[in-house]
Amino acid sequence: MRIAHGTLTSIGAPDGLFVNDATAILEDTHGYFWIGCQLGIYRVKRQDLNDFARHRIPRVNSTIFGTTDGLNAPNCTGHGQPHGVRDKDGVLWFPTQGGLAKIDPRILDFNSQPPPVVIEGCALEQRSVPCEKHVTLPAGANNLEIRYTALSLIWSHQIIFRYRLIGLDHSWTEAGNRRTAYFSHLPPGNFRFSVLAANSDGIWNMVGEQLSITVLPHSYQTLWFQVLVASLILSLFSLAWRMRTIRFDRQQALRQAFAQQVIASQEAERKRIAAELHDSLGQHLSVIKNTALLLWNKSAGGEHNEAECIAGEASQAISEMRQISYNLRPYQLDLLGLTKALEELARRTGEAAHLQMDVAIDDLSSAFAKEKEIHFYRIVQECLNNIVKHSRATVARVLVQRSGSTVLLLIRDNGTGFLPNKMESDPAKGGFGLLGIRERVHLLGGISKIHSTPGTGTVVSIEFHLEAAGKA
Ligand SMILES: Nc1ncnc2c1ncn2[C@@H]1O[C@H](COP(=O)(O)OP(=O)(O)OP(=O)(O)O)[C@@H](O)[C@H]1O
Ligand SMILES: [Mg+2]
Repeated sequence: MRIAHGTLTSIGAPDGLFVNDATAILEDTHGYFWIGCQLGIYRVKRQDLNDFARHRIPRVNSTIFGTTDGLNAPNCTGHGQPHGVRDKDGVLWFPTQGGLAKIDPRILDFNSQPPPVVIEGCALEQRSVPCEKHVTLPAGANNLEIRYTALSLIWSHQIIFRYRLIGLDHSWTEAGNRRTAYFSHLPPGNFRFSVLAANSDGIWNMVGEQLSITVLPHSYQTLWFQVLVASLILSLFSLAWRMRTIRFDRQQALRQAFAQQVIASQEAERKRIAAELHDSLGQHLSVIKNTALLLWNKSAGGEHNEAECIAGEASQAISEMRQISYNLRPYQLDLLGLTKALEELARRTGEAAHLQMDVAIDDLSSAFAKEKEIHFYRIVQECLNNIVKHSRATVARVLVQRSGSTVLLLIRDNGTGFLPNKMESDPAKGGFGLLGIRERVHLLGGISKIHSTPGTGTVVSIEFHLEAAGKA
């Protein structure tokens, strides 16, 4: 134990003392403590103990003196008092089982010479391998032994070593006076073995000796092999991605073909029903109306009124049927052409919904193939329907600009607005109108965008490239 400035530090064998027990501790005039124990008398520097307590060094260095150094018996006794004394000349006396041991620190030479270190040889799996400054080991090298020593005959049994495998070890291994380093397993790579030695007075040879070591990799650990595996994995990934994209494109194409078919057959069916309504039901209603008018002319009193009522109802039914038939297949499209039909559609919608409707439509004649004009018409129709149904707008604007091979359709309202992305991500919330617009835009080879946020109104903008529309 060391007590200094109220701090207690425990220093024992794991910290570098020769052993843990002590029969007596005497200090000489050269700054060393001499400590008697069951194995002899060992010496440790006062400065080392202080440095260790202040965490300046990781270990202390102690030197043992036993029978080879002149003791009759190594065991210092701990019976009776005192267990050791320093006389007035500075000579230290320790009682041992072989009699009194005398240590005169004045005649002990201090060895300031750091011991030279050499690496004597290497062995792998207990078979020696040539090592001259460098050793190359095969892949999976196990149980490497490196033998080293210090070329000094002064107190050589008290020389201590530390070593480190730079590139693998983070700290030094304190080997004591062991002269072999063991490494059970070495990964592939380049390393440097460094060994240092200290003489019995704790003077370290800080240069020591080095041995560079190369451990070869297994073929699967080489760079080219890893690059090969990585590129194989990459190409597998890109193949999988490619196949996924092809599958996705195919599904998209199938979906679009299906949507095209549905839209086309829907339009054909609408046309058929519109014609049926006009030719069959329309004719019958006209007959009823005319008959009622005839009856009205001939009759008087109550019958006169009833005939008038029938004629009025028939007129009403005819105009409603015309409206339905018109919605099913706008005859202006065939009759007046796309431009006029659109103008008419916008005008009628504005009137019906009490909306201020601004309309500016460039001439669209022969912009689209005849059978595809209905898609353009339906797109505008659905946008206007949405304005009337959802926007609560007071002003709406339909703008169609044709320049060169481009047609730009802009439909704007000053209504409530909505979140188009939310509608798309959750189709259950909306109807089929926006979906239909997208499909028809695709059929015409256009690109649609909806700009809308709640409270700011809505702008639907669609750009068509006429060549694409013609081909579609
Ligand atoms: N101009 C607009 N102003 C405000 N909200 C709109 C507008 N256009 C679309 N919406 C919103 O987007 C939703 C989806 O529109 P969509 O046309 O797809 O379906 P719908 O009009 O509800 O039903 P359908 O068109 O099938 O009759 C609407 O329910 C509405 O909430
Ligand atoms: Mg709609």
